[in-house]
Amino acid sequence: MKKQIFLLLILSFFLFSCNNNSTKNEEATTMKYSITEKPFGIFENEAVTQYTLTNPNGMQVSIINYGGTVTNILTPDKDKVMGDVVLGFDSLAGYLQKGNPYFGCLVGRYGNRINKGKFVLDNIAYQLPLNDHGNTLHGGVKGFDKVVWQATKLSGDSSLQLTYTSKDGEQGFPGNLKVKVVYTLTADNALQIAYTATTDKATPVNLTNHCYFNLSGGKEPTILSHVVTIHADKYTAVDSLLIPTGKLPDVKGTPMDFTTGKSVEKDIASVKGGYDHNWVLNKAGKGLELVANIYDAATGRNLEVLTAEPGLQFYTGNFLDSTLKGKNNWVYGKHAALCLETQHFPDGPNQPSFPNTILKPGETYQHTTVYRFSVK
Ligand code: GLA
Repeated sequence: MKKQIFLLLILSFFLFSCNNNSTKNEEATTMKYSITEKPFGIFENEAVTQYTLTNPNGMQVSIINYGGTVTNILTPDKDKVMGDVVLGFDSLAGYLQKGNPYFGCLVGRYGNRINKGKFVLDNIAYQLPLNDHGNTLHGGVKGFDKVVWQATKLSGDSSLQLTYTSKDGEQGFPGNLKVKVVYTLTADNALQIAYTATTDKATPVNLTNHCYFNLSGGKEPTILSHVVTIHADKYTAVDSLLIPTGKLPDVKGTPMDFTTGKSVEKDIASVKGGYDHNWVLNKAGKGLELVANIYDAATGRNLEVLTAEPGLQFYTGNFLDSTLKGKNNWVYGKHAALCLETQHFPDGPNQPSFPNTILKPGETYQHTTVYRFSVK
């Protein structure tokens, strides 16, 4: 009998400690991710909120629901010192100012350029508002970067969902387009962006994000020493207004060749205006693949870009001219940052040989892009 009581005691002790451990583990798990929020101003009578996602490593990504804009990305350098690797502003007024060059925002309904803002779909000619030297850039004068999105924190606290319904005729585009973007901060220090959209009329769709990265986290005024690799053998040739000619030249032997990795400054002087082109990614299929890598030797920060998209606009901040003062009193001069806009090709609706950009009713537009940070 004594022996049985003794065994029972041992068993209850064991069960109690297991249960206690599991509570502790649960606590540890729930401690791993968090999303905090704070008011960020008012736009067109709607509250703008800043959400900050934190992962178990302490990496943080802040997003506002105005334009679905990524305002801050804090990642460690090789000495574990945190730094903010994207350009942006401290306040909503910064983002609302004329001349905000799409810092960190979501871009749509059609990212990049549409020649003269015109396209024909199902025998109907459409004219979009012109906002870039007689062409339409990034969805028109009031694209998805200039509207308030509905934000929902997803359970698990590692994801923020943003939704927006773009009305039939908005910025000249046909069809009510329901857009959903989910930002997820993963345990391996990646910001994953998953885009989906559906429509009730055929319409062009090309969604992207317009983060301006400088991996030095404020230490270097330009990205000229960043080493860039882009897995692309071809790019879309453009005219003087950056509208594709339809030709896809080889990068080999040209300043556009980033296949083996080189610093931005190596050949930039031979590219009129600087890099602002769409690379035709070498992809095996339509899934998520590693397409580009950016490395800053001074801080050891490394950024891998994975996407399901066929193109990448690599833009070296050529139009930044020190007139914008950003967060932390940073002054943004020429080449202060670079953009890696994963996308379908510019002017897709007018280029039959380019990958299709028309979404039809009953179909779902879907793609994911991942910006993964590490040090080496
Ligand atoms: C994109 C374009 C650039 C420029 C920026 C915003 O990257 O390709 O030409 O318009 O957006 O300034």
